Amino acid sequence: MQIRRVGVLTSGGDAPGMNAAIRGVVRAALDRGWEPLGIADGFAGLIEGRGSPLTDRDVGGIIQRGGTLLGSARAPAMLGDAGQAAALASVARLQLDALVTIGGNGTHTGAHALARRGLAIVGVPSTIDNDVAGCDITIGATSALEVALEAIDRLKVTASSLHRAFLVEVMGRDCGYLAVMAGIAGGAEGVAVPEVPTTPEQVAETICAAYRRGKAHALIVVAEGIPGGAEALARRLAESKTGFDVRVTRIGHVQRGAEPSAFDRILGSWTGAAAIDTLARGTHAVSVGVTGNRVCTTPLADVAGRTKAVDPAWLQLARVLSR
Ligand code: F6P
Repeated sequence: MQIRRVGVLTSGGDAPGMNAAIRGVVRAALDRGWEPLGIADGFAGLIEGRGSPLTDRDVGGIIQRGGTLLGSARAPAMLGDAGQAAALASVARLQLDALVTIGGNGTHTGAHALARRGLAIVGVPSTIDNDVAGCDITIGATSALEVALEAIDRLKVTASSLHRAFLVEVMGRDCGYLAVMAGIAGGAEGVAVPEVPTTPEQVAETICAAYRRGKAHALIVVAEGIPGGAEALARRLAESKTGFDVRVTRIGHVQRGAEPSAFDRILGSWTGAAAIDTLARGTHAVSVGVTGNRVCTTPLADVAGRTKAVDPAWLQLARVLSR
């Protein structure tokens, strides 16, 4: 298949490093003499046919910026036949020979739907949640982790001063990756994640144990994906005597607005350019990520509709270190 013009879009929740990936796609495409076209606002913009050419200068000065130059959106229309048909009609109107989609699970599911309809499409995993199957780490996760850690380090200061327990809720949708990693790196007393059902009584016991050991505070990192989140957990904890007064902090979308870490800039640049190399080799209908420090491709069919859970080994480490 001869590629002359390639589209690129970012879809779903923005993630720090998406701009590096856009830049990687655009410059690698230009390097091959292809014409890159930026699609505004993800699949929603594709359905409406909003695309314009990108030059190497258009993607200059963006590698250090969070968010996405192209804009993004949630596009429920892509779940249905009409939305997918409209997206393909735009692809034809914009004369795209191939498309690179940068985003998380929803994006990969949309990409898979278009691949099944015959479009040459490659996905690049990018979400703060790190829950995309087929790769070790998604663009944006480590930058979001830094934001959570900064909050945790500050909360520990006030928690120690007033001898309190804090439930710190981090994002991650149905995946506990951010919570566990923030727990390990932030020296938390406990973590609560959707992958392992945890009762309020167990969390109360974790906090009590910290109190009994003479700790000045207790910090529990809670993934937003547990039933009811940290607020519901705190309400249930109010019924137990834990030794500490309990407070809740929800970090929320602040995590998404981080500046991309060095790692995310490199990961975005690497996989963005690799997406173009993959298309040039004639391979498509795959996700292009990094596993074991190497670029790897995973069929979109094996990625779409799945959520990667946090590795139980990290949960074990968080438990062991929380003494
Ligand atoms: O998938 C990224 C993410 O930030 C999740 O962690 C979170 O659950 C969700 O997006 C929030 O979505 P929205 O920005 O649409 O509220």
